[in-house]
Amino acid sequence: MADKKVTLTLDGEAPVELDVLQGTLGQDVVDVRSLGSQGLFTFDPGFTSTASCESKITYIDGDEGILLHRGYPIDQLATHSNYLEVCYILLNGEAPTPEQFEEFRITVTRHTMIHEQITRLFHGFRRDSHPMAVMCGVTGALAAFYHDSMDVNIERHREIAAFRLLSKMPTMAAMCYKYSIGQPFVYPRNDLSYAGNFLHMMFATPCEEYKVNPVLERAMDRILILHADHEQNASTSTVRTAGSSGANPFACIAAGIASLWGPAHGGANEACLRMLEEISHKEHIPEFVRRAKDKNDSFRLMGFGHRVYKNYDPRATVMRDTCHEVLNELGMKDDLLEVAMELEHIALNDPYFIERKLYPNVDFYSGIILKAMGIPSSMFTVIFAMARTVGWIAHWKEMHDEGMKIARPRQLYTGYAQREFESQLQK
Ligand code: SDX
Repeated sequence: MADKKVTLTLDGEAPVELDVLQGTLGQDVVDVRSLGSQGLFTFDPGFTSTASCESKITYIDGDEGILLHRGYPIDQLATHSNYLEVCYILLNGEAPTPEQFEEFRITVTRHTMIHEQITRLFHGFRRDSHPMAVMCGVTGALAAFYHDSMDVNIERHREIAAFRLLSKMPTMAAMCYKYSIGQPFVYPRNDLSYAGNFLHMMFATPCEEYKVNPVLERAMDRILILHADHEQNASTSTVRTAGSSGANPFACIAAGIASLWGPAHGGANEACLRMLEEISHKEHIPEFVRRAKDKNDSFRLMGFGHRVYKNYDPRATVMRDTCHEVLNELGMKDDLLEVAMELEHIALNDPYFIERKLYPNVDFYSGIILKAMGIPSSMFTVIFAMARTVGWIAHWKEMHDEGMKIARPRQLYTGYAQREFESQLQK
């Protein structure tokens, strides 16, 4: 029974009393589920003030710039953990014992190959297709191959599908890249780490041995950790909505990939690098900042701002440090990093951005790192999707474990009232 209540009084109507529910952390929520039966809906386009579900997976404090996965701070996970351990934590709720981790690692490793016929699907695409279009198509097509893990009402099926998706996303992601450059696909190897295997499948060729650089391997693993999950963001909400109809897991993850592709969401990393390349030099920054502030100009600073963070995105801090680490390891000096740091400095001292609490987000520095690793910008959001697959699966799993209703919001209708139809065509 909720201790706190809210009373809603509509002119002339009897007051409506609503429960206020309290979580472990964060805002209290008003339980409005009974409002529909009272003839009222809430109105919240973009869900700026709506809690769509109850969850135990990730907590974000936007004002303080805090991100917790099952209670563990993101900077501690990025520093002391690895992506597969974070996957275990997100999926199972607790950190694994060495034995549990080894069993999890082996299971993921042994599912990294994809059905050989799926490789033929790639050849139906143009070589210059955007890799996210290919990832959407091929991920959804997994449902045509793995019929033995499609009954979402069977927990074992959900578990098998989860492992298949977690294991095969790097393989398919690397295949998108290889296909786009006309090189042969590289099979996964069981002797490499998750991140190392991905880099090997991306850059190895049949002509010579490819040695995974341990600094780049660690940087890629950290990038995957930083993108693993992020509460009820647009793509995760898409996966939950798709899953609420009982759709199979492969279709749900394909829907998440489609939503992530948007430049306002996961597509921002690719858009941010293009923006930095367009700015190209510090002296051009004032003009771009002016355009970002101009309401008549649709241009926005990509990699800046966030619906939840009204402080520094904690992931951006780790990403910036990783950026310096990778460039130092490669002995590279990237002018775009100079531009990014100057842009950040100017924006963070500009009243427009200060008043709106706009800070760099996870996408601001990631593109510079990935570019330094030799990864084309068209692959940036594919890597985001690969990393976020575990978060999507964790929320999809939680929704099934907790029991769910089909997501079916209502609307504020402002169209025509009923009127008689008379065709203009028969005259
Ligand atoms: C991700 O939700 C998640 O958790 C997402 C994510 C995850 O891990 O899943 O964190 C990943 O998607 C990060 C965000 C990546 N997107 C970008 O970097 C694109 C650029 N950012 C913006 O498009 C914007 O900041 C959003 C979409 C991220 C957030 O938009 P909101 O919350 O709807 O805020 P808004 O559009 O209402 O903006 C509030 C004000 C507006 O000005 P006013 O109308 O008040 O005068 O801030 C301005 C906006 O014009 N504004 C910006 C801006 N972002 C917001 N102005 C210039 N440049 C920007 N980037």
